[in-house]
Amino acid sequence: MNVTEAIESRMSCRAFLPTPVPVATVRAILETARRAPSGGNLQPWRVYALAGEPLAQLLAAVRGKLFSHPRGEGSEYDIYPTGLGEPYRSRRYKCGEDMYATIGVTREDRPARLRQFAQNYALFGAPVGLFFFIDRQMGPPQWSDLGMFMQSVMLLAREHGLHTCAQEAWSVWYRTVGECLAAPPELMLFSGMALGHRDESAPINRLRTDRAPLEEFAELRGF
Ligand SMILES: Cc1cc2nc3c(=O)[nH]c(=O)nc-3n(C[C@H](O)[C@H](O)[C@H](O)COP(=O)(O)O)c2cc1C
Repeated sequence: MNVTEAIESRMSCRAFLPTPVPVATVRAILETARRAPSGGNLQPWRVYALAGEPLAQLLAAVRGKLFSHPRGEGSEYDIYPTGLGEPYRSRRYKCGEDMYATIGVTREDRPARLRQFAQNYALFGAPVGLFFFIDRQMGPPQWSDLGMFMQSVMLLAREHGLHTCAQEAWSVWYRTVGECLAAPPELMLFSGMALGHRDESAPINRLRTDRAPLEEFAELRGF
């Protein structure tokens, strides 16, 4: 698989098979992803990879609180800016509508939407959960470095025949995740990520999201 194929075949997978992923594969992905660039080579990423019992314990801890606290524990950062303007607002709306359409859930069917959203906290059935943290002293440039690291993980997963779904949804359970992992207090949870084998028969995995045409985000001059 070349880089173009990895980029084009990556998508947010929201239904996984229970097939386990060997630790050697997870290790190989992270070993290579550490080659991601970072300003000043700070390498500001920290990641916890969980499977088996530790993962089951974390999922159970969140599951036990989901009903009483559907919005979680708040978030340490704003997942989206308040008053998100256009064209971003419409893109976000469409991505949600397109996703629910794949499973026949209408806008009015709020219970079904919540049930699907709650699947985030089951990692959509994936056997591996990755939890990405950043040191609190870091600012926007280092958050961008973390993003490049995460994309490297997602592309390397493709090379190993695996799929992923980045999951900011985990950030609203930062206390529980931090406690379960015994993460040091200087680390802030940015995102979870499900990793595993895609369930090819799941309708939700048929979603292929749009992208704006190049002319909308790039200007090429002087060629
Ligand atoms: C940092 C980050 C966090 C995300 N968090 C979630 C999430 O919590 N739950 C979810 O279902 N998708 C999540 N996504 C997936 C996005 O919705 C998805 O990347 C976007 O709609 C584009 O679709 P694609 O990944 O299939 O190309 C996240 C993506 C990124 C990059």
